[in-house]
Amino acid sequence: LMVPKSLIMAKDDDVDLGSGKSRVSIFFGTQTGNAEGFAKDDYAADDDQYEDKLKKETLSFFCVATYGDGEPTDNAARFYKWFTEENEGDTRLQQLTYGVFALGNRQYEHFNKIGIVLDEELSKKGAKRLIEVGLGDDDQSIEDDFNAWKESLWPELDKLLRGEEDTSVVTPYKAAIPEYGLVIHDPSFISEKSMDSNLANGNAAIDIHHPCRADVAVQRELHTPESDRSCIHLEFDISGTGITYETGDHVGVYAENHAEIVEEAAKLLGHSLDLVFSIHADKEDGSPLGSSLPPPFPGPCTLGTALAKYADLLTPPRKSALVALATYATEPNEAKKLKHLTSPDGKKEYSQWIAASQRSLLEVMSAFPSAKPPLGVFFAAIAPRLQPRYYSISSSPRLAPNRVHVTCALVYGPTPTGRIHKGLCSTWMKNAVPAEKSRECSGAPIFIRASNFKLPSNPSTPIVMVGPGTGLAPFRGFLQERMALKEDGVELGPSLLFFGCRNRRMDFIYEDELNNFVDQGVISELIVAFSREGAQKEYVQHKIIETAAQFRNLIEEEGYLYVCGDAKGMARDVHRTLHTIVQEQEGVSSSEAEAIVKKLQTEGRYLRDVW
Ligand code: 2AM
Repeated sequence: LMVPKSLIMAKDDDVDLGSGKSRVSIFFGTQTGNAEGFAKDDYAADDDQYEDKLKKETLSFFCVATYGDGEPTDNAARFYKWFTEENEGDTRLQQLTYGVFALGNRQYEHFNKIGIVLDEELSKKGAKRLIEVGLGDDDQSIEDDFNAWKESLWPELDKLLRGEEDTSVVTPYKAAIPEYGLVIHDPSFISEKSMDSNLANGNAAIDIHHPCRADVAVQRELHTPESDRSCIHLEFDISGTGITYETGDHVGVYAENHAEIVEEAAKLLGHSLDLVFSIHADKEDGSPLGSSLPPPFPGPCTLGTALAKYADLLTPPRKSALVALATYATEPNEAKKLKHLTSPDGKKEYSQWIAASQRSLLEVMSAFPSAKPPLGVFFAAIAPRLQPRYYSISSSPRLAPNRVHVTCALVYGPTPTGRIHKGLCSTWMKNAVPAEKSRECSGAPIFIRASNFKLPSNPSTPIVMVGPGTGLAPFRGFLQERMALKEDGVELGPSLLFFGCRNRRMDFIYEDELNNFVDQGVISELIVAFSREGAQKEYVQHKIIETAAQFRNLIEEEGYLYVCGDAKGMARDVHRTLHTIVQEQEGVSSSEAEAIVKKLQTEGRYLRDVW
């Protein structure tokens, strides 16, 4: 979930309202990697600084996304914890007027939790709410929700900044189409810069902004040929990179667009793939072009490289991208239709022809071939920056200190327009060439994202793991860790693993390894639900019901429950099942059962890694 920069007025800028100027600060809690206000340099590690900074602001807007299991984004996590838990209402913010725009998805259980809580906390701390919290829903259109919120914001802002008595008409701030400065280099220029080219030195911290290239050591298919789907086991070699990880962490992977896609994009833009250029966010005199632009990607590089590494070409374009495209359409009819799609009258058409059809940016561009924007506009306003994909690491550093294992289901299928959508990173993994097969192996810039999804510190604590499909990934890491502990002579507590797949012969991934963990006593019991073997669907939650007493006992004995996998279907159903089991076994009311489950969660004994 991203707060597109172009949707926001301008970052940390003075809003010019006639004669006077007022400072407005905007805080982003986003995973785009370009987030501003919460970012490290502004809000440094020292908690006191949060308070100092907030006390200085008089007018602030917060744009915050909620992730998987109701969590804040990485860049807002520390701030959020400090703000909601640690300072216990100490901070008084009477001087502050604020508005919150939340980004989330209604399909998920904790819809916009972070934005809603932040909005309430700000108010509790005495800050004045200028506008009701905006609830952006990615299931529909965050862009429309944001625009609606912004429209109701203008009059309030007007009143606040100019006073009620001033009734002169103010034209709302209209953002110009963002554009990078562009330099075309001599084609003989060959030394390309890239974001991971000089980072394997162990000095720089490796993170989302500074990933480190890792080679693919091992790659193999986990499904049998009988299966019509694909699931890849892939190992990144991290020896000598300085990358370290813990069991349960995530790995972020920057995959590249497929060559076919890149070629098509270059053709649509009307340039050669070999064009060497660089973009920059400064004017010739060194002054910034506009602070709403994310930092440019490293250059000079070829257009081929830029399109492969930095441009999201397959996501349906936002309305702001269509506005930018319309400006450059030389065919009047094309310009008209593009503008219509972004207008209030074209709302339905946009949601059907673009959003519901999952029409990619490239498909849209090929439908409007006269729109050939300059590269500085294309990379600033039309193609969003390609984002890393995250995977739950399926190994333990105790067993594989030099490897990061990934278990990845291939995303592949037709979209409503008849295009075959091939998931960016899963397709890359499917085609990756491992070092064990070729000296010219594949590699990708990667980094580690820490998680709270960790084994209990005491290995004798009982654990229950629920992970159907690729939800098994972090548990394979857990089990490797338990195996290593056992080999060190540590006494292990009981453990149940619920796994689910379609069919034993097709997609029972890591079957031999799991059986071995059982033989070694690393898993006390492996319980598998096969959903497409019998006449009736068997899911993990059905197996949980069958073993309800055992399940409940383990958790009651100070045990931990872990759930990993699909958030919208499986994790939600398992959650309901847990609630039912608690209610029935304890003979309590539904709301009492809810309180018991909540307590498990707040004690950190019911952990979820869901997507
Ligand atoms: P299905 O594809 O036959 O529906 C791993 O993806 C396994 O999870 C598959 O066996 C899949 O079954 C199953 N699954 C799908 N939806 C689920 C849900 N809501 N709860 C539990 N398991 C589910």
